[in-house]
Amino acid sequence: MLIRRPADILPSEITPREVYLNRRQWMTAAAGLALAAGLPGSLGAAPLPAAKSPLSATDEKLTSREDITTYNNFYEFGTDKASPAAKAHTLRTSPWTVKVDGLVAKPADYALEDLLKPVTLEERIYRMRCVEGWSMVIPWVGFPLADLIRRVEPLGSAKYVAFETAYRPDEMPGTDTFFPVLDWPYVEGLRMDEAMHPLTILAVGLYGETLPNQNGAPIRLVVPWKYGFKGIKSIVRISFVEKQPETSWNKQAPDEYGFYANVNPSVDHPRWSQATERRIGEGGLFAKRRPTLLFNGYADQVAQLYAGMDLKKFY
Ligand code: MTE
Repeated sequence: MLIRRPADILPSEITPREVYLNRRQWMTAAAGLALAAGLPGSLGAAPLPAAKSPLSATDEKLTSREDITTYNNFYEFGTDKASPAAKAHTLRTSPWTVKVDGLVAKPADYALEDLLKPVTLEERIYRMRCVEGWSMVIPWVGFPLADLIRRVEPLGSAKYVAFETAYRPDEMPGTDTFFPVLDWPYVEGLRMDEAMHPLTILAVGLYGETLPNQNGAPIRLVVPWKYGFKGIKSIVRISFVEKQPETSWNKQAPDEYGFYANVNPSVDHPRWSQATERRIGEGGLFAKRRPTLLFNGYADQVAQLYAGMDLKKFY
């Protein structure tokens, strides 16, 4: 077992001193991001130092920065893989506000800088498995979503967390179309225990730099045991709700994309198998596919969240 369970990890390992000391550097990086706004995402990246998290898949070879930042799904900028890198520079990521509302004791409109001030940034290397059959290994920089949730104090009646992406047709050419590909804004959701799980992070960077726009700048969700579409990008709203929230892909094609979207090699997508995957960067289209792992290889940490549930029904 190469990924340690949360229980094996000392708090001192998660929040090493140098990470606290890095907060000043984060503020500098955020200022750099503000200066860089308007430049293509990849040019606008600012250094974002973070200590390596033991919750990382350390046995995996990293996907190249080039592949991670040029092979993207971000339909607000077009439906093909190259469009986000070519077009997402039009998204203005500074200033950025995240509204926290719904069933919480402390609702607020957080300026991104204020949201990040008390957090400790970590580098987490996670496998990402896309429902389309490919995968990557990405060194995210982020912090546990649970840290934010604790700060805003959800009420007992809050059972789910709903997320919303910015919707700005002027800055998002893929949303300004006669026949919308999705019902904008892009929305996603998690059950409260999934949202509180230590593997669930809000990412603000990758490869040690602030997120390129095409990867969801300035802040996006990463849930490594779920298909990539749960990783909602460029978040402007986080709401605490009682009922299971709607999610963009489930609304679009309920037979193909469920609310849970846990990576599961034995539940086929109606149009193709999910049993294997193609690791991006490994020898092109003709490279040998690798078997897909239940919960994307994170079963030891997360399977208990779904004990007693029929995973074929709750896909
Ligand atoms: N978030 C928004 N707002 N819009 C999108 O189209 N695509 C999702 C997810 N988050 C998407 C999104 C899908 S299908 C995937 S696979 C991942 O983002 C891709 O993330 P990456 O481009 O950083 O690899």
